Amino acid sequence: MTHDLVLDDIARTAKGRSDATGVMDAVVSTLKERIPDYTWVGIYLMEGDELVLGPYRGKPSPHTRIPLGRGICGAAATEKQTIIVDDVNADPRYLACSIETKSEIVVPIMDGNRVLGEIDIDSDRPAAFGDDDRALLERVAAWIAPRLAGKP
Ligand code: SME
Repeated sequence: MTHDLVLDDIARTAKGRSDATGVMDAVVSTLKERIPDYTWVGIYLMEGDELVLGPYRGKPSPHTRIPLGRGICGAAATEKQTIIVDDVNADPRYLACSIETKSEIVVPIMDGNRVLGEIDIDSDRPAAFGDDDRALLERVAAWIAPRLAGKP
């Protein structure tokens, strides 16, 4: 599926859901449904110096609150940059959510220089995320940012 189609699908699913939770829910459900390699899809929101798990699809995660200094999630928020990990078991920062997970991508959702939250996706396939996923998910993050910041 092309990026434009995924984005159209997200916008269509989110239509009429003006609250931030509804919009985030539309994003995670569409990404999980449309892209088979995306085994676990969630959005964390910045609250103080912690990332707090919002809507997600996949198995429940034990990591519902992640301090900024911890995990791949914490690293992406600190660095304000997308992080792709091809082999999570080889990355000392990794906080395990499921033993089946092999690779992960974390994409910050930015409002200017401020981190609002991030899109976190795990795959059961090693090295499942490439430049194409980064490009798509950075577009999704840019689409969702004003909706989370209350600037539609
Ligand atoms: N793996 C993440 C923690 C979140 S779970 O994958 C849902 C990390 O290392 O920060």
